[in-house]
Amino acid sequence: MKALVYHGANKKAWEEKPKPVILQPTDAIVKITKTTICGTDLHILKGDVPEVTDGRILGHEGVGIIEAVGAAVTAFKKGDHVLISCISSCGKCEYCKKGMYSHCENGGWILGHLIDGTQAEYVRIPFADNSLYPIPAGSDEEALVMLSDILPTGFECGVLNGQVKPGDTVAIVGSGPIGLAALLTAQFYSPAEIIMIDLDDNRLAVSRTFGATQTINSAKENAVERVKALTGRKGVDVAIEAVGIPATFLLCQSLVVPGGHIANIGVHGKSVELHLETLWAQNITITTRLVDTVTTPMLLKTVQSKKLNSLQLITHRFKLSDIIQAYDTFSHADREKALKVILNNE
Ligand SMILES: NC(=O)c1ccc[n+]([C@@H]2O[C@H](COP(=O)([O-])OP(=O)(O)OC[C@H]3O[C@@H](n4cnc5c(N)ncnc54)[C@H](O)[C@@H]3O)[C@@H](O)[C@H]2O)c1
Ligand SMILES: [Zn+2]
Ligand SMILES: [Zn+2]
Repeated sequence: MKALVYHGANKKAWEEKPKPVILQPTDAIVKITKTTICGTDLHILKGDVPEVTDGRILGHEGVGIIEAVGAAVTAFKKGDHVLISCISSCGKCEYCKKGMYSHCENGGWILGHLIDGTQAEYVRIPFADNSLYPIPAGSDEEALVMLSDILPTGFECGVLNGQVKPGDTVAIVGSGPIGLAALLTAQFYSPAEIIMIDLDDNRLAVSRTFGATQTINSAKENAVERVKALTGRKGVDVAIEAVGIPATFLLCQSLVVPGGHIANIGVHGKSVELHLETLWAQNITITTRLVDTVTTPMLLKTVQSKKLNSLQLITHRFKLSDIIQAYDTFSHADREKALKVILNNE
């Protein structure tokens, strides 16, 4: 089969690899029909994720058709259409029992990281019964690719951890796919205001069409001053960090009102200053989370019922065999006005 293979920092190739086989009775082999590229794949390609070794097939998102199942798989059979979760979970360990699939002692985020991933014609999925979701007949499968990672991430790490409530004022720093996923799913709770902050005017314009009530380009104006002006000098009830750099986590600390929440989503590579000298008396809650994908079944229903329009997140489509070109587009997101790219293997 063909696959997108990592060969060390800044090296990748679309090349021939052996088709995966069942290694454990709980495995399934899935023929990929649609997959996508994540910002995390770009981090890996920069060499920021050293656990990813030469020869690894990248990718942790997608939908496909079951090709084969191991003897212990009971929920799926050959021919079933499935949604692949970016998190593989055994369902049996202490963390899985707590609903923290991301910290599964036997899985977690392993696809396209510690084991071969989904940017290929076929993928092996461990713990298939717990790590795949059945796709209802007649679904728009392209829309469901957004459920492998970005929608549960924006919702669980941003909206649920930030405890967004009706009438709240919410600021989301970063309007990439993850910040936009938080913007879409925050609206389940009818917050009064959602202020999007980014450096990219195109992404801010997109966020207005997705329901943002205010947008701030923090390269052009002072975001703290603008938020104060928009909120009667107060600030926001919930500040969601969806970038992953010190400046944006610091900004969140300046935006939040007493009693508010700072919900971190961003993957941080550097330490960040925490201003406890001002925050200690402010009754705020700071949360962190690696996406668990426990809300995937609920989000699937909201996409199915069209309460959540996940197709809006897709800007570009390619053949899977044109994945090198798709990477070029996705890695120049501002130039190409790109959000999520779909790779079709049909
Ligand atoms: N916690 C988790 O489980 C989890 C899961 C997936 C992704 N993530 C992380 O979420 C973050 C966002 O992911 P994404 O795919 O949307 O990334 P992205 O790079 O596409 O988007 C980030 C956005 O931040 C903006 N930005 C950059 N610097 C800024 C600044 N100083 N001020 C304001 N905006 C700024 C960029 O213009 C861009 O639109 C990343 O750090 C990613 O690794 C976390
Ligand atoms: Zn991802
Ligand atoms: Zn587990």
